[in-house]
Amino acid sequence: MTQKQENYEAMKQRICERLAALGQSHIIQHLEQLDAAEQAAMLRQIDALDFSVLDPECADEKRGMFAPLYATTLEEIDQNRSRFTEVGLDAIRSGKVGAVLLSGGQGTRLGCTHAKGMVNIGISRELFIFECLIQNLKRVTDQAGVYVPFFIMTSAANHDETVNFFEEKNYFGYSKAHIRFFQQEQLPTVDTNGKLMLSEPGVISTAPNGNGGWYASMENTGILRELRNSQIEWLNVFAVDNVLQSIADPCFIGAVIESGSVSGAKVVAKTSPDEKVGVLCLENGRPSIVEYYEMTEEMRTRHEPDGTLSYRFGVILNYLFRTDQLEKTLSYKLPLHKALKQIRYMDEEGRIVDPEQPNAYKFETLALDLVKLQPNCLAYEVAREKEFAPIKNKKGDDSVDTARELLRRNGIVL
Ligand code: UTP
Repeated sequence: MTQKQENYEAMKQRICERLAALGQSHIIQHLEQLDAAEQAAMLRQIDALDFSVLDPECADEKRGMFAPLYATTLEEIDQNRSRFTEVGLDAIRSGKVGAVLLSGGQGTRLGCTHAKGMVNIGISRELFIFECLIQNLKRVTDQAGVYVPFFIMTSAANHDETVNFFEEKNYFGYSKAHIRFFQQEQLPTVDTNGKLMLSEPGVISTAPNGNGGWYASMENTGILRELRNSQIEWLNVFAVDNVLQSIADPCFIGAVIESGSVSGAKVVAKTSPDEKVGVLCLENGRPSIVEYYEMTEEMRTRHEPDGTLSYRFGVILNYLFRTDQLEKTLSYKLPLHKALKQIRYMDEEGRIVDPEQPNAYKFETLALDLVKLQPNCLAYEVAREKEFAPIKNKKGDDSVDTARELLRRNGIVL
C-alpha cells in the first residue's frame, strides 16, 4: 500500500468510527455501496462538516433576566435629523462605512427556487428585489458622492446564480468595483430522530448555517483581511427581503456615532402587544432580542408611565456594527437555533422525496446573537410604512402583495 493509500484508509477508519460513535451508522452503510471515487468525494465532504449539530444539547439556550431598552424615537430623530445626517455622510465620505447584504437564505416560505433577490416584483416592468435594494443604496451614495463598499453573502445553492445575475443586470447601475460576493458555510440537517440525511447518492444533506455567521464567513473567505487594511470602521448588515429599507442610512449612522454606541439596530414600534416580532431589550444588562414566543404575558402587556408598551420596539434585521467590536466576536461560537423545515432528501430506496410537511431540522446561527455580544446598542426607530416591507410569505402578511402596496405608497412605480 502506498503512503497515500494508507493515509486515505486511516481517514476512512477515523470518519467511520466517529459516525458510529455518533449513532450515524446508516451513513457508513451508504458509503460502502459507493464506488471508490464517490466514496472519496463523500469522505471529503464528511471530513469538512461541523458535526456539533449532532450534540442533542447544541441548540439549548438558557435565557437571562430581561428589561426594557430605551429607543431613540422618530420624534427625537426628526429634531436632530440634519446633524445626524451630516455626521453619517461624513463617515461615508471618509470610507468608514460598508454594507453587508445577507442573501444566503433559502426563502422556503416564499417557495423560492433561486436566490430571493432574483424575484421580480414588478407589474408593468421588471423590478427585482436586488434592484430595489441597490436603488435604495444608490439614493445614499448619490447624496454622499461616493460608493459604499457592498458585500453580498450568498450560500452554496445560490452563489453562482447570484454572481451571474448581478453581472447580467450590469450591477443595476452600481459600481462593480465596489461589490464583493462571499459564501457562507453549510451545516448538516437531521431528521426528527437526529439522523443525518442524504440529499443525493454520496452527499450528506446540508443547509446554510444561518445569518449570524456573516462576519465569521467574511473572515473565512479572506474578505476581512482586506477590510482590516481599509478605512472601514462600520458595517451596516441587512436582510434581502425588506425592499423599502434605507441602506447605509446616514441619519442612522450619525445617530449611532453621536450616541457613542458600538452598535445600532433599526426598530419599528409594535402595532399591538401580540405582534409576532423579536423585541430589542436588555438581557442581564446587555442588548438582546427577545422573541415574541419567549415573552411572558407580563412582558407583552407591560406599559410605561406615558402609556407606551415597555417592550415596544421590534427589530427589522438592519443593524450597524463597529468592526473593532465585531473582531472580538470571532473567537466566540454563536449559539445554534434549530428550525423544523421541509427538507428534500433521498430515502433508503434511493428515491428523492419532496416532503409536504416539515420533516427535518436545520441549524442556524442568528444575526441577533451578534447584538448580544455588543456592550451596547442604540435602538433607532424608523417609520414602518416608510422602511419596512418584508417579503417572506407567498400570500397574506409580509408577502409580495403587501410589499407592493407599501412600495406604491412610497411612490415606486411597479
Ligand atoms: P429568513 O430568516 O427570513 O430566512 O432570513 P430565509 O431562508 O430567507 O427564508 P425562509 O425562512 O426559508 O422562508 C432573513 C435574512 O437572512 C438571510 C436571508 O437571505 C434573509 O436576508 N439568511 C438566512 C442568510 O443569509 N443565510 C441563512 O442561512 C439564512
